[in-house]
Amino acid sequence: MGFVAPLLEVRHLNIAFPAQSGENNGVEKSSVLQAVRDVSFLIGCGEVLGLLGESGSGKSLTSLAIMRLLPPQALVSGEIFFAENGATRNLPVLDDESMRQLRGARIAMIFQEPMTALNPVMRVGDQIAEALLAHQPISKREAHDRAIEAMNDVAIPDPARRARDYPHQLSGGMRQRVMIAMAIVNRPQLLIADEPTTALDVTIQAQILDLLAELRARFKLAMLFISHDFAVVSQVADRVAVMYAGALVELGSRRDVFSNPAHPYTRGLLHAVPDLTTDRSRPLETIAGTVPPLQALPPGCAFEPRCQFRVEECVRTLPPLIEVSGGHWARCPVINK
Ligand SMILES: Nc1ncnc2c1ncn2[C@@H]1O[C@H](COP(=O)(O)OP(=O)(O)OP(=O)(O)O)[C@@H](O)[C@H]1O
Ligand code: SF4
Ligand SMILES: [Mg+2]
Repeated sequence: MGFVAPLLEVRHLNIAFPAQSGENNGVEKSSVLQAVRDVSFLIGCGEVLGLLGESGSGKSLTSLAIMRLLPPQALVSGEIFFAENGATRNLPVLDDESMRQLRGARIAMIFQEPMTALNPVMRVGDQIAEALLAHQPISKREAHDRAIEAMNDVAIPDPARRARDYPHQLSGGMRQRVMIAMAIVNRPQLLIADEPTTALDVTIQAQILDLLAELRARFKLAMLFISHDFAVVSQVADRVAVMYAGALVELGSRRDVFSNPAHPYTRGLLHAVPDLTTDRSRPLETIAGTVPPLQALPPGCAFEPRCQFRVEECVRTLPPLIEVSGGHWARCPVINK
């Protein structure tokens, strides 16, 4: 991929939650849970960045920070620049009205579980029309027609009839298509897809991935595609960011990350992914140990307790991201000198 203009740039994003750490010498001591640590990445116009990580690694929090939908008690620092019509805005400090105009119109999101994101007592066509009416000065009639067009764009058969259905009358795959129609109906530049296929069975999952690829090409959509599944990310992403315990540990092109992983965690994960050549009679190699809870993260590299390459320094300070080769970064100075 040649040069693309930046659309979204996240710089040094930190997200923490206030936490009571219990009594210390009879005095109640409060502290914070650091859920996202120093996350930086960039998405170019029309580009798909895959955000990969295990459960609890901070993927959804990162996306909610971009949408400014974090719970009010979240302590957020860092910058999130979004380019629109030649102007670059820093989302965390944008006024509420401008943010409301961007959210759902320029930046849209699809959620993992469509049933929780759709209104169960409203016809799906009306829900899509409402997404339009929230952002565009058009009549109800026109919004209704464009909602049906959007349902057609996401290949829902007989859209005029299905528009009158309630969410529970649709299959899981059709509900996810409705969510996607709602997200693209205002023609956003950036689509955040948080585990959009995880709740679906494998055949439907493949259809939804094909649909997203088609919409991406047709509408020149950039995407932040969140998943815990290497195989899914390797199908859709141009570049890949890997998160571990709240920190970004590796970032690079799809080929760099999957063919030449530079962080011990990514290497360990890729070894644990079976492919056609895997000898299925032997147990899969997995990474020894488990992800530490947020309350017990070491101040340095979060992977340190499980890492066979660790040196004394690793436990003390969060290692910097090192550029291993052009555009390929890994947060491990020990094996990338
Ligand atoms: N409101 C909150 N208060 C305290 N901790 C929170 C809160 N929301 C999330 N967390 C913690 O932050 C961490 C990251 O959460 P996040 O939802 O971003 O993970 P994720 O990578 O999206 O995981 P999954 O794959 O399970 O969706 C988790 O350990 C979670 O428990
Ligand atoms: S910084 Fe140290 S502990 Fe972390 S992955 Fe590299 S070698 Fe392992
Ligand atoms: Mg999540």
